[in-house]
Amino acid sequence: MKRVMGVAALGLSACLLMGAADGSWLRRVPAADKARVNPLSDQKAAAEAGFHVYEEECAKCHGREAQGKGNRPALISERMKSTTDGDLAWLLRNGNSWKGMPSWSVMPDAERWQLVAYLRSLNTPAEAQHLEGARQ
Ligand code: HEC
Repeated sequence: MKRVMGVAALGLSACLLMGAADGSWLRRVPAADKARVNPLSDQKAAAEAGFHVYEEECAKCHGREAQGKGNRPALISERMKSTTDGDLAWLLRNGNSWKGMPSWSVMPDAERWQLVAYLRSLNTPAEAQHLEGARQ
């Protein structure tokens, strides 16, 4: 039993050292924030505007195709699909600085929601294809 615990502790510290993105930030999102709905969610132009903000601010860490790099997670994933718009808006406002995700609290609210619309579109197959077309 002791040995099992030791191995578990080793695994845990390795994760912490590498700063593995494990989605633990999701547990810190208050219920009221989680329930927030993107006010721009029915505007197609919002996701496209979000793509341009993404290229400026986010692509350097998460990759232009949101494929992720090292400890910077891919932004197309099962975990992303399981998030609410409110979760994403909360993370953008607060960041997760000890794991390397900056806070975007000075960004105008509308721009954060545009980003949320873009991230949502990446995790919704039909719309992702639409944006793929728009990029060419
Ligand atoms: C300096 C590098 C850096 C920049 C710039 C950055 N991020 Fe991150 N981001 C990270 C890291 C590192 C994590 C992992 C944090 C964690 O483990 O909780 C992360 C996590 C995330 C997550 C959570 C993903 C998940 O699966 O848990 C989202 C969503 C996200 N970033 C969106 C963005 C957006 C949108 C932008 C641009 C406004 C952005 N990031 C800019 C480094 C960055």
